Amino acid sequence: MSDRYIDFANSSFGHRLVGALGLPTPVRLERWQAGRLRPVDGALLLGGGPLVQPVHAFAHKLTEQIYSYGAASAPGTPWIPGHGPKVRAVVFDASDLTSNEQLKQLREFFQPLMKNLDASAHVVILGRDPHSLGDPFAASTQRALEGFSRSLAKELRSGGVLQLIYVGEGAEDQLEGALRFFLSPKSAFVSGQVIRLNACATQVQDWTRPLAGRKALVTGAARGIGASIAETLARDGAEVILLDVPQAKNDLEALAARLGGQSITLDICAEDAATQLIEHLPDGLDILVHNAGITRDKTLANMTPEFWDAVLAVNLNAPQVLTKALLDNGTLHDNARVILLASISGIAGNRGQTNYAASKAGLIGLAEAWAPSLHERGISINAVAPGFIETQMTAHIPFGLREAGRRMSSLGQGGLPQDVAEAVAWLAQPGTGAFTGQALRVCGQSVLGA
Ligand SMILES: NC(=O)c1ccc[n+]([C@@H]2O[C@H](COP(=O)([O-])OP(=O)(O)OC[C@H]3O[C@@H](n4cnc5c(N)ncnc54)[C@H](O)[C@@H]3O)[C@@H](O)[C@H]2O)c1
Repeated sequence: MSDRYIDFANSSFGHRLVGALGLPTPVRLERWQAGRLRPVDGALLLGGGPLVQPVHAFAHKLTEQIYSYGAASAPGTPWIPGHGPKVRAVVFDASDLTSNEQLKQLREFFQPLMKNLDASAHVVILGRDPHSLGDPFAASTQRALEGFSRSLAKELRSGGVLQLIYVGEGAEDQLEGALRFFLSPKSAFVSGQVIRLNACATQVQDWTRPLAGRKALVTGAARGIGASIAETLARDGAEVILLDVPQAKNDLEALAARLGGQSITLDICAEDAATQLIEHLPDGLDILVHNAGITRDKTLANMTPEFWDAVLAVNLNAPQVLTKALLDNGTLHDNARVILLASISGIAGNRGQTNYAASKAGLIGLAEAWAPSLHERGISINAVAPGFIETQMTAHIPFGLREAGRRMSSLGQGGLPQDVAEAVAWLAQPGTGAFTGQALRVCGQSVLGA
């Protein structure tokens, strides 16, 4: 469903009117277009500590325009505030900050930049996970980066987004994959996130087809976010298998045919769903995306047992039962990627959604709890928590609530299915095994549960 307010606010008359009324003007976000090669379309600015060196080693693959600011020894053409070009992407390494005094380097680096950022700028701050540091003061300094990052993300204008990545020991060689996502329009609707990247044995071989040779199953793939995930995984080279309920057969088969994939019509809550699924997957699976989900909203006072049971069965029980069956049977290969579609409702809670929020929080808990044992087989399991995404599911929300859902984020708009799909595709990559047991929000830095 289209967001008419964005269209209006970006028209010449609308822009003047909303400006005069002091209303927010959400911009049209830049999205990744098929066929594009360079993650950063413009100037990339590097600054800060020692992690700038490994980033500089692959920066030429991200963009042709590499600048440095701050330390005289930083690689790249020196960037001069007011004279250098507008900056499209920024990486600042704060990993060596260990005292309160050093935190002022953040202000000194970012202040001149704030008026020199291009539209849809992508900013990444690098740090070290406070839990990995023995010195409590150094840990506190690194934790301070969270407050700084989340606040600065809220100050960015014109579609700018910002993330903090805590880089674990040995995870430096996974930075290229992470920055290809977080510095590019693929992460247009991700902001204010804290990401923990750890060492991972597997790597992407070909960045034009990072999922080549991988088999991916997407549930609920006939429409909405699931359809977009299937398209994006296929774009990235995966062989896709699309699953949905028998009623969605026509749409499902048409999409599967267009993507050169297979389709499976199956209710994931059917008693024999696991057996049927295993029969359909004789060659095993590398990527499992539990996207199928339903809402049956009512306040708890009015919640029927049927509404409660249906939501818990589809959203939480089926992903648990099916993942376990695919693991026990050996269908899920070593180094597989499991991605669970949660929701910010599962983080913040939402009136009228006790059943839905319980199911989505349960998925986040499942990823957290299962990650350590699955890691032994190189398997990662993560939740993706979308905020307000423009789909048939959200088109059914009453107008007032729908508008509130759209505007209550730093980007002042809803996301598109593609935004969630890009996050899933990044998590599905071989090198992203370094990221596990976490919940990645794709919510435009929604104020809910922030
Ligand atoms: N749209 C949003 O704003 C939003 C926000 C947060 C989370 N999510 C989550 O993202 C996922 C996709 O959402 P969407 O908006 O695309 O929903 P949607 O309703 O448009 O699509 C869901 C798909 O799942 C399928 N499905 C439902 N029950 C099934 C079952 N028992 N077996 C097999 N398939 C089944 C449906 O047929 C449908 O094709 C859901 O898990 C949803 O909870 C969506």
